[in-house]
Amino acid sequence: MSAQTQTRRITASDIRARKGGEPLVCLTAYDAPMARILDPHCDLLLVGDSVGMVVHGLDSTIGVTLDMMIMHGQAVMRGAKRALVAVDMPFGSYESSPQQAFENAARIMSETGCQAIKIESGTYAAETIDFMAQRSIPVIGHIGLRPQAALADGGFKAKGRNDIERHRVIEEAVATAQAGAFAIVIEGVAEDLAREITAQVKVPTIGIGASAACDGQILVTQDMLGVFDWTPKFVKRYDNMAERTDAAVAQYAADVRSRVFPSDNEVYTLRRIDG
Ligand code: KIV
Repeated sequence: MSAQTQTRRITASDIRARKGGEPLVCLTAYDAPMARILDPHCDLLLVGDSVGMVVHGLDSTIGVTLDMMIMHGQAVMRGAKRALVAVDMPFGSYESSPQQAFENAARIMSETGCQAIKIESGTYAAETIDFMAQRSIPVIGHIGLRPQAALADGGFKAKGRNDIERHRVIEEAVATAQAGAFAIVIEGVAEDLAREITAQVKVPTIGIGASAACDGQILVTQDMLGVFDWTPKFVKRYDNMAERTDAAVAQYAADVRSRVFPSDNEVYTLRRIDG
């Protein structure tokens, strides 16, 4: 038996049990080194299909494939030992039937080792969530602003601004929870609506641009670290990584141009490089 103590992985039941308790700390992760840094601080790491925009430079999440999600999911699982890791199902991989969703979710879970999957869950998705949950796939729903529906919806717009939309978002939340999702991401809704949904459903709500009235928050890590020039209004920037990286690389370039290298010539001997 190994002398090392094994870290216990947070499970879907642990997340479910946090309803109304200590807020859930969640962030996106797409690679192993970042997952390793985030892991001790987070309850849940999401391999979001936002990877298409954040890492691959796509304009939307529509071009993200199942293979991309699996590759990033495997990387995150190598870095995260404690947080629950959930992988997004990309556009086109779950909408046509519950069977299609189950087969692709099972593939994501068996090839990555992740603990859960997430789908964007309009009311139509309730049957699919039920089908997967009955077959032992832990599912997180995603309601309100659904990025995969942005083309059909006319862009990335906040939801619940009028009574019809409000009613629709509440319906999505109730259907998602009743169908068996163990948590629900709520994106882009005002505080009063987030509060109403959080009070109505029995599973934790995880907000993004949905105020502190939820049971937790998730952000795109690169947004809160200041990797991009622009960040959504609801994101607090905890760093300015773009500026700091620019300054570090400028210094590196200046050092190389003026031949400023580590002074210990030993580091360049083959013996040292080979270890
Ligand atoms: O893809 C993603 O990163 C997400 C979060 C924004 C919730 O779905």
